[in-house]
Amino acid sequence: MPEETEEILIPYDNMKEQLMKEISSFADATGLSIPMPEISYEKGATQITFDTAPLTDSLLFNCVRVIKKYIENVRIITFDDGHYSLQALGRNIFKTDSILDSIKFSFFSLNYPKCIISKKGLLTQDELNAAADIFKTFFAEPKEDPELRLKRLGAAVMGSSGIGWDYIAGYEEVKRTIRESIIMPLQNPAVYDKIAGLTRRVFEPNRPRAILFEGPPGVGKTTAARIIAGEAGTPLIYVPIESIMSKWYGESSRNLAEIFDISEDMGGAILFLDEIDSLAGSRDQNMFEATRRILSVLLRKLDGIDAAENTITIGATNRKDDLDNALISRFDQSIFFPLPNAQERSAIFGGYAMHLTDENIKVLGDRSADFSGRNIKDACEFTERRWARKLIISKSEASAPPFEYYQRTLQIWKKR
Ligand SMILES: Nc1ncnc2c1ncn2[C@@H]1O[C@H](COP(=O)(O)OP(=O)(O)O)[C@@H](O)[C@H]1O
Ligand SMILES: [Mg+2]
Repeated sequence: MPEETEEILIPYDNMKEQLMKEISSFADATGLSIPMPEISYEKGATQITFDTAPLTDSLLFNCVRVIKKYIENVRIITFDDGHYSLQALGRNIFKTDSILDSIKFSFFSLNYPKCIISKKGLLTQDELNAAADIFKTFFAEPKEDPELRLKRLGAAVMGSSGIGWDYIAGYEEVKRTIRESIIMPLQNPAVYDKIAGLTRRVFEPNRPRAILFEGPPGVGKTTAARIIAGEAGTPLIYVPIESIMSKWYGESSRNLAEIFDISEDMGGAILFLDEIDSLAGSRDQNMFEATRRILSVLLRKLDGIDAAENTITIGATNRKDDLDNALISRFDQSIFFPLPNAQERSAIFGGYAMHLTDENIKVLGDRSADFSGRNIKDACEFTERRWARKLIISKSEASAPPFEYYQRTLQIWKKR
């Protein structure tokens, strides 16, 4: 009995034709524009070279799996960062005399990522299939869109809101602080870096990386973050901490780390961590553990060796006092958003009921003590709906609600 079954080798031209056909029908099917491989047969050796997508760990893993599917025995020649190489061993792994002639799959991830498949002699059908499948693996790997990845993780990229600072009525002090401590560094990073270069023995960026927005609910923290992103031309990634903690129970810390990584992959973003107070001391033992791990990711990403360099993190909380001190200390700065004062409340009313007179607006501002901006907006919407119902019932033309209707809303709401 022969030691090995004779392997059928495919003539070079035939092999090349098959491979090209496979690849072009794959390209047609997927609609991808795929670079054609270079295929050659020189000095008795076959070589196939193709440019690949960036070589990620998962891609490499999938390639190894493909190779293993077609080739029974393989050895790893190199597995260094940036260069990975595997070679077939032949059916009889103890017969090693011609091992260096066997088919070899090399992956290079430096500079221009590519894959080189080489073999002394012609390819078998299995080897040809492996080459075609590796090719497909590279281009089938879905380059999942960062927005989809974020969505899967419970975060979202907030599109440009198109609103500017004048949308937020009042809050001049808050706006000024934000302009100086966030917008200016975002828009002129070189100036800050240059200063740090002149002052620090060991260069360290002096730009703020993490800022805490503190204040009661509904005072414009989220809105301000959206305006900042719009003004700086940076995407805003919205991360509701509370919901990723409950939704991803057990995996939330890993997911949060991934959100930071996606932000870096996007070339930097503003990461808005809403309701970080949900990290504050929970008594539930399991939750406590999850919280501890989330905290450790935050500490690492905000200011550790693993820091997200191009990401600016804005944390929002309405219970700063409950937050872990180690966490608070990672924020470069804290900006307090108070409840609006009477004058500011009037100005906010002015934004949502612009048809009223200044006098009317002033009355509403005076009579809405303790209202947040959101409360005022809600009160105005509530008034508009009541007014709309009345118009519909009386079959009247559409018009803006009269002052008395707003006053009435405030009376109703006071009683609640
Ligand atoms: N000063 C303000 N001027 C205009 N609208 C405001 C103001 N403060 C809050 N609002 C409105 O209230 C709503 C809630 O604001 P948001 O930014 O979500 O508050 P927070 O994040 O602090 O809870 C938003 O729709 C915003 O338009
Ligand atoms: Mg908010």
